[in-house]
Amino acid sequence: MEITKKDTRPFQDQRPGTSGLRKKTRIFMQPGYIENFVQSVFNAVRQQDQTDFSREILVVGGDGRYYNRTAIQTILQMGAGNGFGQILVARGGILSTPAMSAAIRRRGAMGGLVLSASHNPGGIDADFGIKYNIRNGGPAPEKVTEAIYAHSQRISRYLQADFPELDLDREQTVTVGQTRISVIDPLADYAALMSELFDFELLRGLFRGGFRLLFDAMNGVTGPYARHIFCGLLGAPEGSVIRGTPLEDFGGCHPDPNQAHAAQLVAHMSGSDAPGLGAACDGDGDRNMILGRNCFVSPGDSLAVIAEHAQNCIPGYAGGLAGIARSMPTSTAADSVAESLGIECHETPTGWKFFGNLMDAGLCTLCGEESFGTGSNHIREKDGLWAVLCWLSILAREGGGVAGILQRHWGRFGRSYFQRHDFEGLKSDAAAAMMDEMRGALASLKGSSLSGRRIQGAEDFEYTDRVDGSVSSRQGIRLLLEDGSRVIFRLSGTGTEGATLRLYLESRLDDGNLIPGDVLQPLLAGARSLLRLRERFGRDQADVVT
Ligand code: G1P
Ligand code: ZN
Repeated sequence: MEITKKDTRPFQDQRPGTSGLRKKTRIFMQPGYIENFVQSVFNAVRQQDQTDFSREILVVGGDGRYYNRTAIQTILQMGAGNGFGQILVARGGILSTPAMSAAIRRRGAMGGLVLSASHNPGGIDADFGIKYNIRNGGPAPEKVTEAIYAHSQRISRYLQADFPELDLDREQTVTVGQTRISVIDPLADYAALMSELFDFELLRGLFRGGFRLLFDAMNGVTGPYARHIFCGLLGAPEGSVIRGTPLEDFGGCHPDPNQAHAAQLVAHMSGSDAPGLGAACDGDGDRNMILGRNCFVSPGDSLAVIAEHAQNCIPGYAGGLAGIARSMPTSTAADSVAESLGIECHETPTGWKFFGNLMDAGLCTLCGEESFGTGSNHIREKDGLWAVLCWLSILAREGGGVAGILQRHWGRFGRSYFQRHDFEGLKSDAAAAMMDEMRGALASLKGSSLSGRRIQGAEDFEYTDRVDGSVSSRQGIRLLLEDGSRVIFRLSGTGTEGATLRLYLESRLDDGNLIPGDVLQPLLAGARSLLRLRERFGRDQADVVT
């Protein structure tokens, strides 16, 4: 086998965003684009870790979208070219993001390359992405992603071993030079981990008793996992999983589990004979949406409810929770639960990578984001199917259905009414100018009023990681009103076209039975005029409200 050193030149645009490097697929298809990025990952890791790759394991897999298999073959050649001891590649190239995290941890790997653009559409004219996960199984922290970017800006060659394409559909081990490449079962590590955390016997009993689940895999990666775990191991009927085959273009859909993009599931969950639990996951399986009969569980509430019941309902958390963490824009529902449990609720910037240090240091057990992300320290990624198993466990132990569980929760803690309004495809310079202007106005905003309520706090969120002391600034503008309501806005770091403004609204009330849109209407109106959306962008209606 020959290792070739190929000359190359830097691409200017390889700085990872909120979650890895995400671009239009055709950008990734440029000759040398993936090679440059992957070599930059290897160079950065080798330099920072001072590690000898011949003693290390690398895991590779993706969400099955268009270009997944091609990118995997390239990575295998580069992994062998860079002298890894072993590369584990998922059968069919299919590995959910949480399963990647589980595989890295259980197999003691150095890290893994996840090929995914998460919930973004797939196809030659849609999106692709690569993310590097480190030894703890979580997304590389900023220190590492910045080092990768720095290497990408001065790269001059990459290493590739020349060997024929590997058949990814057959479990096998081949040796290429000093590298053993094994095609592994993508379900095994993950399913084993779930069976350790949850009481599968309890859940089998739930389904034996006729409980119905409807799970929408949105043509993404979770179909095979859901069929294996819910139907195979827990005995749910076959029809419980819909859109369960991973497709390269997700069937032309936007694989983002919210009420707008999983409308079919939402429709199935209305009516008195709807299943007891409805759920959906995104393209790579880390996001989740939870629905009951005629009822939607907002992600902030889902985190809070799981936190409330974890110790009593889920064996993996029987010892109690060390703490909770949520991203800053996420509703404060979990804070009240943390207070009642006498544990801390940490507030971090947007992006799962900020939870890693807290979990590694034993400071928190559960984490969540408003963007349909929930998870725990069982891995270092958010985990869609885990959240569904949490809800199944709570339903099995507590009874009362999803709506009943929510009602009891709000009765005890009050309710955080929450919405996120996304304005997509904005002109990047106009959006950046708006943020700059608002940053400049923070001092004068404090003490002024928004929708008749005094603004008590106005700041651009800055986070100091209490474990490594690193500081992340400019993480979103947050206005805190006198009645505890919050108005937050930031620009997305995952978009691939123009800018996306995310506007987050929250009001906490004791009454749990109001309509979120009504409660939040005054905050929305106030934010629209404060940001002068119509004037700047010609529109003030969001594209998606979640
Ligand atoms: C979005 C979400 C964020 C999530 C990330 C990756 O990032 O808002 O919570 O961690 O996707 O799934 P954003 O586009 O807002 O930067
Ligand atoms: Zn995702």
